Amino acid sequence: MPVSAKEKIIVALDFPDRATAVASMKRFAGLLDRVKIGLQLFTAEGPDIVRIAHDLGFRVFLDLKFHDIPNTVRHAVASAGKLGVEMATVHALGSKEMLLAAAEEAASHGVSLLAVTLLTSMDPPQCEAVAIPLPIESQVLRLASLAAECGVPGVVASPLETASIRAALGSSLRIVTPGIRPPGSPADDQKRFLTPAQAIRAGADFLVVGRPITAAHDPLAAIAAINEELSSPEE
Ligand code: C5P
Repeated sequence: MPVSAKEKIIVALDFPDRATAVASMKRFAGLLDRVKIGLQLFTAEGPDIVRIAHDLGFRVFLDLKFHDIPNTVRHAVASAGKLGVEMATVHALGSKEMLLAAAEEAASHGVSLLAVTLLTSMDPPQCEAVAIPLPIESQVLRLASLAAECGVPGVVASPLETASIRAALGSSLRIVTPGIRPPGSPADDQKRFLTPAQAIRAGADFLVVGRPITAAHDPLAAIAAINEELSSPEE
């Protein structure tokens, strides 16, 4: 702190098609450096949408959360690397062998790999239903540690878990946090969130922000407000 929205925000392009995504990217060009392309947009438009984002000057976080046998994930990471994405995700639950294969392949393609620990939509009853032991925070730390041991350079975590992951695993691990709500923004379906400044103070390197920007009445004003919050000295 202080930091800028341009260097810290990754805007989530959760859109149904290329036309809406491109219109948004054109508005954000110059104000933000990074976009996140996830399952909805990638499944609709394929790798072309990544190339378009690059052509418009953005760095791309490809958030497809790979979770499969090690050989399949290795080759999927290689394909992401050939697209030139900056960051990509795998599920830490995919096993040590899968993480090792993904980390090796990502490093050889210059992709900054991120491991998703437990989805922030998982609550204790949902974890028990799929045989994940409780408490959630211990499992998140265990999975983040496993990812780090396997050479995965970063994790995706809720901002509420960021400080404990940072304390346990040190400053070199990249932490990317969704679940960000600027002061006064609707929570939508996010249950566990912090403001941009709180998440940065907790130790996040990048903040994924979707609807507080993309669904705002004035997205550019929303970016300006986040920038103001991040660039103000700590209170
Ligand atoms: O609109 P909103 O800011 O809630 O968007 C958050 C983005 O981060 C969405 O693209 C969502 O899929 C993603 N995400 C999340 N929680 C996770 C992992 C990813 O909200 N644990």
